[in-house]
Amino acid sequence: MRRRLAAACSVEALAIALVPFFEPACAQMPLPEAKSMDSAVLFRQQCATCHTTNDTDPQRQGPSLFKVVGRTAGKLPGFHYSSALAAASFAWDEARLDAWLTDPQEVVPGAVMPYRQSKPEIRARIISYLKDLH
Ligand code: HEC
Repeated sequence: MRRRLAAACSVEALAIALVPFFEPACAQMPLPEAKSMDSAVLFRQQCATCHTTNDTDPQRQGPSLFKVVGRTAGKLPGFHYSSALAAASFAWDEARLDAWLTDPQEVVPGAVMPYRQSKPEIRARIISYLKDLH
């Protein structure tokens, strides 16, 4: 919870960096708006239809994202990847994930994930959630 508050603050601080007199809001309780930016809620809304977060549930349209940070791309046993992603030879880190969520086909031409997120703060929240899946 504490970490989440800190993250909320830093995103908020970024967003309002040019408006210094709003800064004291950071010391207060999260506003309802910040609550809807909860990383687990965002993951449920935007990723969970296609991705599980454990290695026991049946795979959905996409592979399980359990321990995905640090994992080699396109190699989860039992998941049928596109040939493009199956041929990838890099490991997922924050920068790759950020680029992937912005535009998967830009990172791996031929990848078939039908999702794009143009808002950096939403991508950052979701990536912080993925980092906790260990
Ligand atoms: C409509 C379904 C769908 C949604 C929504 C979706 N994905 Fe995917 N995702 C896929 C598919 C399908 C693949 C496999 C792509 C391929 O094989 O080219 C994939 C692959 C991935 C991979 C690569 C995993 C690996 O083993 O290399 C990551 C990371 C990922 N998705 C993260 C996310 C995150 C985070 C979200 C939410 C912000 C999300 N995805 C939303 C369908 C989806």
